[in-house]
Amino acid sequence: MKVLGLVSSPRRYGNSELAAKELLRSLPDGWEKRMIRLSDLDLAPCKACYACLAREGKSCVLRDDMDFVLEHMLWADKIAIAAPCYILGAHDGVQRLIGRLMPVMERYPSFAGKQCALAISYGLHGWEGMAREEMLKIPQCLGMGLAGAAMLEAIMPGDSVRGENLQSLRELAKALEGPCGGEPYTPEGDTLLCPYCRSRLLTIKPDRNWRCVLCDGGGAIVEGPQGFSLEADGQAGNRFTAERRVGHEKQLQEAKRRFIEHKAEIKELQGEYRQDSWWVAP
Ligand SMILES: Cc1cc2nc3c(=O)[nH]c(=O)nc-3n(C[C@H](O)[C@H](O)[C@H](O)COP(=O)(O)O)c2cc1C
Repeated sequence: MKVLGLVSSPRRYGNSELAAKELLRSLPDGWEKRMIRLSDLDLAPCKACYACLAREGKSCVLRDDMDFVLEHMLWADKIAIAAPCYILGAHDGVQRLIGRLMPVMERYPSFAGKQCALAISYGLHGWEGMAREEMLKIPQCLGMGLAGAAMLEAIMPGDSVRGENLQSLRELAKALEGPCGGEPYTPEGDTLLCPYCRSRLLTIKPDRNWRCVLCDGGGAIVEGPQGFSLEADGQAGNRFTAERRVGHEKQLQEAKRRFIEHKAEIKELQGEYRQDSWWVAP
């Protein structure tokens, strides 16, 4: 087996690096192991040229380190991603990777059977924000199996590999070592998670229906002797099924066709705003 550790933190030997190393060292010695520090790489922001939509091979025009990351993600059978929470969200290195996934999403069958584990370090209880859900986008968009997600409360460097956090990482490593499609390690206690993608970001409607912000799965909120639980209304609602992915691609291609058709009109509308120039620059 081949395992890739992706670390997104500027801190050398910080909590994310140690968590990723702990995960990798808990996996069998015979496995081939590699690590990449995402935050050191040249990953330019998507420039919204939509060239990837026009191309057969769905490749990106930007020539930076994205190909290197992708090559390694395709090389690996198992991928562990470790990043800190910054201002209630995932670290910028992870965000830059996510921002470049549009052309890669179409290649999701190449990621089938791969498994992904997430380790999120955060400093203060209750301040973990949406980092976990932002990172869940990676396995979801690429169609990888989720081995689990460990939330590591870690204010001092090294805290991610101490006490309960160390136990949590070892449990996560066990799930990552296991077969793809197994029960993911998501120790969220009694928090209701989306049964499809394990996100905590749910919209709750007055008619007692729920919908997942991340995967768009949904269903009914039902009350039982143990309290409320989420009933799933079937895979049809999940935006990451093969069928919905085809529908999404069709919508994008249709938008591209309409853009080409109405290009002159769009330019004219934009032109009406050209005289308004209140920009300031440093
Ligand atoms: C700019 C910045 C923003 C942060 N924002 C949060 C936050 O919103 N919530 C939180 O719990 N911790 C926050 N932290 C703390 C880190 O998530 C925490 O210290 C983490 O363990 C650092 O991991 P690292 O050593 O891998 O970088 C922040 C740290 C920095 C430097």
